This record gives sequence, C-alpha cells and structure tokens, in this order.
Amino acid sequence: MHDIKSMKREIPVFEVPDAFSKRATIAGMGVYNALCAEAEKDYEGFWARLARGNLFWSRPFTQALDESNAPFYRWFGDGQLNASYNCLDRNLQTGNGDKAAILFEADDGALTRVTYRELHAKVCRFANALKSLGVSGGDRVVIYLPMSIEGVVAMQACARIGAIHSVVFGGFSAKALQERIADLGAVLLITADEQMRAGKVLPLKSIADEALTMGGCESVRHVVVYRRTGNRIEWIENRDRWMHEISASQPETCEAEPVDAEHPLFVLYTSGSTGRPKGVQHSTAGYLLWAMLTMQWTFDIKPEDVFWCTADIGWITGHTYIAYGPLAAGATQIMFEGVPTYPNAGRFWEMISRHRVSIFYTAPTAIRSLIKAADANPQVRPSRYDLTSLRLLGTVGEPINPDTWQWYHHHIGSDRCPIVDTFWQTETGGHMIAPLPGATPLVPGSCTLPLPGIMASVVDESGQALPDGSGGILAIRRPWPSMIRTIWGDPERFRQSYFPAELGGNLYLAGDGAIRDKDNGYFTITGRIDDVLNVSGHRMGTMEIESALVAHPLVAEAAVVGRADEVTGEAICAFVVLKRECPLGGEARQLAGDLRKWVGEQIGPIAKPKDIRFGDNLPKTRSGKIMRRLLRSLAKGETITQDVSTLENPAILEQLGEAF
Ligand code: PRX
Repeated sequence: MHDIKSMKREIPVFEVPDAFSKRATIAGMGVYNALCAEAEKDYEGFWARLARGNLFWSRPFTQALDESNAPFYRWFGDGQLNASYNCLDRNLQTGNGDKAAILFEADDGALTRVTYRELHAKVCRFANALKSLGVSGGDRVVIYLPMSIEGVVAMQACARIGAIHSVVFGGFSAKALQERIADLGAVLLITADEQMRAGKVLPLKSIADEALTMGGCESVRHVVVYRRTGNRIEWIENRDRWMHEISASQPETCEAEPVDAEHPLFVLYTSGSTGRPKGVQHSTAGYLLWAMLTMQWTFDIKPEDVFWCTADIGWITGHTYIAYGPLAAGATQIMFEGVPTYPNAGRFWEMISRHRVSIFYTAPTAIRSLIKAADANPQVRPSRYDLTSLRLLGTVGEPINPDTWQWYHHHIGSDRCPIVDTFWQTETGGHMIAPLPGATPLVPGSCTLPLPGIMASVVDESGQALPDGSGGILAIRRPWPSMIRTIWGDPERFRQSYFPAELGGNLYLAGDGAIRDKDNGYFTITGRIDDVLNVSGHRMGTMEIESALVAHPLVAEAAVVGRADEVTGEAICAFVVLKRECPLGGEARQLAGDLRKWVGEQIGPIAKPKDIRFGDNLPKTRSGKIMRRLLRSLAKGETITQDVSTLENPAILEQLGEAF
C-alpha cells in the first residue's frame, strides 16, 4: 500500500483532451456526476429508464428489480425480448443493413467482410438449421470454435431461438471440454475441423471427438462442424453435420424467439478457488443492456468508429465486446483469428493501420510482449506504422503497470488517445470500474471510478466500509443488471462464493483487493484475494492445476502458487511430491517436462506450470496445513527470512528452492 501511495506521487495525471470530450457521449465529469446522482436517488428508476431507452422489448417490463429472493436478483423480470433481434434486426431497421458488421482477418491475412444484412441472413439460416436438428429453447449448445465469423453466428443463432450457449475456449483440452459438456447436459456441440494459429494447423474436431468418448456426454445428439481448413477428419455418420451443408438449404429469415428477461443467454465457465470451474450464468436483458451501455459510455462508440477487441470469443471479453456489445451498438468491428506475433510482432500495429481502427482494446500482457519485441527488433516498432486512425485505447484482464500504460499512451496513442483501463470479471458481464474517456482524468495503473449505477466499496473482512486510502476487499453494494445470476447447477456455491455470510450476505464479493484513493476516490486493484491466478490475463485456479497434477499416476501431492512475471503478469509455479523418491538432475527435468505436458492435456496449454519443483514433502505446519506464503517466497527465488518456527519440516525449504 505504501508502494502505491509513493508511486502515485510520481505518476502524472492525464487530463481529458478537449478534442475528445467535445464529441464524447459522456462529455465531462458533470455528466458523469449527474448519472451517478440519478442512480443514487432512484436506483430502480435509473436502470428502468436505461433499459426502456436502449433495448427493444417484445413485452415491456413493469418492475425493474426484484430483490425478494436475494441474492438471486431478477431484473426487468416480466419483460420479454430477444438478444439477437436487438443485435441484428434492429440494425436493419435503422439503416445499418449495408454497414460492415464484422471485418474478419484470418491468420494468413485473408479478409472476409460481412454487413449487418449478411450477418442477419447467416444467423437466421443457422438458427433454422439448429431447429432442424431438434434444438429448442432452453437447450444447451456447447461451442468449441476458433475465432471466426461462424463463432459469432453460432452464438447469435442460439440466442435467436432461445438456446443457451456455452463457448469453450479452443485452447482447452478434451477433458476440460468433456467436463463442461457433462455439467451442462448439452444437446449439441459446434466445432471446426481444425484451427490456424501462427501459420500452424491445430486440431479441434479430433479433440471434440475424444471429449465425447470420455463419458458423461451422452446428451449430445449432433456435432456440427465448421470447415476451416478442409483437411481430412474422422466422421461419424448421423451424428456429425457440416455447418455449411445444414445451413445452405435453410430460409434467410428466422423469427427471433422472445424470451423472458431472465432467460439464461449463456453459461461461461471460469476458475474459482476450488478444483472445479464454475458455470457463470448470465441473463438476457440485464447482460445485453450493460454490453450496450458500456459500448456507449466506456468506449464512446460512434457510427463511424472501427472497433477492435483482440480477445477470444472463448472468454467473457469476447462475448461482451465482440459477439454482443458492438453488434447491439451497430458498430463496425475487426475480428482477428491469429496471434499478435505472427508473421511478426508488428501485426497488431499493421492491422490498426490497414483497417483504420479507431478504438483498440487489448490485454496488458499483449502490450508487454510487444514492447519487448519492439525493443529487440526495430522493424516492428510502432513508429513504423501509421496509427493516426486511433482515438481511444483500452486494456482489460489484469492490472496494467504504470510503465506499460505510459508506453501504450505514448507509442500507440501518440499522447493523444485516452486509455480506458477497464476492471471487470466474467461474473460482472461488462465493465465495472473504468474511466469515461471524455470525462475522467487518467492516472496510469488505476481503473479510476465506478461506472454510473455501480456501487463499489472497499470493505474489511466483516463487510464494514474502510476509510479511503486503506487497502481492503472490493465489494459491490447493490445488485446491477448484468451480474451473474447463479452458478449453473449449483446455486449454493453461487451464494457462498459471491455473497458470503461473513460479509453480511448482501455484498457482492469480487475476489479482488482494492484501495480507494483519499484525494480523488480512484480505485486501484491490488490483485486477487483468493486462490486464483492471472496468467496473461487468463484466470486459473491454483486448485484446478493441483487437481490436474495429483491425477498423474506418479504424483502424491502438489501445491501451486503464482509468482510475478515481467510479461505474463503472473507465472504458475508448482511444487510436487512424487509417490517415489524425489528425482534429481536429468530425471527431474524429464519428469517436469512430462508433468507440464500432462497438465496441458488435463486443462489446456495455458495451464502448464512455468516452474516445477520437486521435494520429499511440502512445507507444512504441525497441523498439516501447507504454508503457501513460504512457497510463494520460494517461487520468487527469495531466501526465507520469515518465521518458520511453526514449520514441521524446515529442511524441505532448501530442496524445494531449485526449479526444473
Ligand atoms: O483480478 C481481476 C482481473 O481479472 C479478474 C477477472 O478475470 P476474468 O473473469 O477472466 O475476466 C477477465 C476479463 C474481464 C478480476 O477479478 N482484472 C480484470 N480486469 C482488470 C483486472 N485487474 C486489474 N485491472 C483490470 N483492469
């Protein structure tokens, strides 16, 4: 905390450029303050006004918020609407039919452009195809696709017929996919033959096939396959169908099914503090409202903007700021299949220049890796590219350190573009604490102020508000429309995870620590307070990785901690005890390699530990509790100077200090 205060003294404040605030939707702190005051004064009236003014309702709602069954809040409960209608049909009605909705750039640079009219037709055809396969309202559809227009079509088609989609990131393993399919009892799986990343062909359909043979997936009746590469794949007659074939003969229109406001739009799995990922369930109306509003408020979206969010559709950012928000806002967006470093680390900057991108939204990890690449290779320095089309920059997913912020501001934004550092989570549906680019003076490293209607506080362990300037637990005091509704199939876990009784039972616990500045009320996120790691902006539970490790036949015990990493934010460090003697030298290196591969197969390559250390035991207290703070110090390479008097086996520390 001291560090934060002393750091802040040296960090300049970046005032809002006049040119920006003049044209902004929220032009100045006066407008921001008025919206906050409106929400304070009449919370339900505030949200009701916004929901009526922004969404098209098939049946208007009469009550904004129902708190009778808290924390299972209901928003706009007796209203009906359709998310796909709001994203597509409305754009055809308002004259956006011929406007580009998505400009898709493939890994190899090939471009595909779809207008709102074309996207509408594709979605309708595929929605009809889904119906022809017997998919109907409330059915769960798992989507395991690479970044593609077809991915958005699949999500929108589900929304159109009231089916609940669950996108599984294409980097997850067969086992991770199987667990999600089984938990949901999905009737359909949509995948691709293969995917392309950095010039390499990677499998998808074969992983999906494997997942379906693992047991628990008997509910899946069909597998729909998007043909991406056209290479030969295994095919199961009657079960498998080509996406293009089943869509081709279908009509170009499909009635958008009105659903209840609270109808689940999707379930997206994320990591928590236990070994089992949580199926975060979102609603239709509240979620879509916030996706739309944050496009207007945080991104200040205008009809002529070219918006680019680099996230994958497998994460919440790709849901809210690719598949729903930009479409609901009638924007033109770029969608990218590849990686920022292929064919070279200038790819992002080159694409911004070629597509005249005006709003660019990415993760701090990507920026940090591109800074490193630009330092090493003058050919990929941003100064070599024309970035004059940019007017706004954004970051998401992890804290951005002030140095990286200032590089981004100077080298990409030419000291001209505001940066919106957006704090939010899978569970929050959209931005929670973020600057409004036409109003909020920026302080690098701070996500600044809660958006209007978001009642954020810093509290202590009993839920009492803390004075500004002291670090504590980030909590949200009132329900908001786009919040998580429940954990799929586990309402009790939902209540305990997010509305813990220790905090009084009515505060939403974000799982992050925060500090609110004494002078300006700005929030700085200090990191997770639970056993969740953030590696390259990807969220992972330490227990999830530990469970994967102990599932290996040779592993007796494992403990996973994070350690700071210059590029990825945090890196995974695993301490492992084998069922046999502790390995040394070459054997240890070999085994560490095997275990990394194993974790890759159990969860996915993103969960592979960077360091693996072997020991005869783990540092434990006399009561058998693993002393994680010691493991965290060891992971950092620190010599242990802390009190180890409660440690049962101090000799273990030396052995565990060595990485393989
Ligand atoms: O720890 C916070 C961090 O990412 C977590 C949420 O991860 P996930 O659900 O995967 O969603 C990521 C994309 C919204 C948070 O609990 N986080 C997210 N954004 C920021 C952040 N930490 C600091 N600053 C941010 N802007």
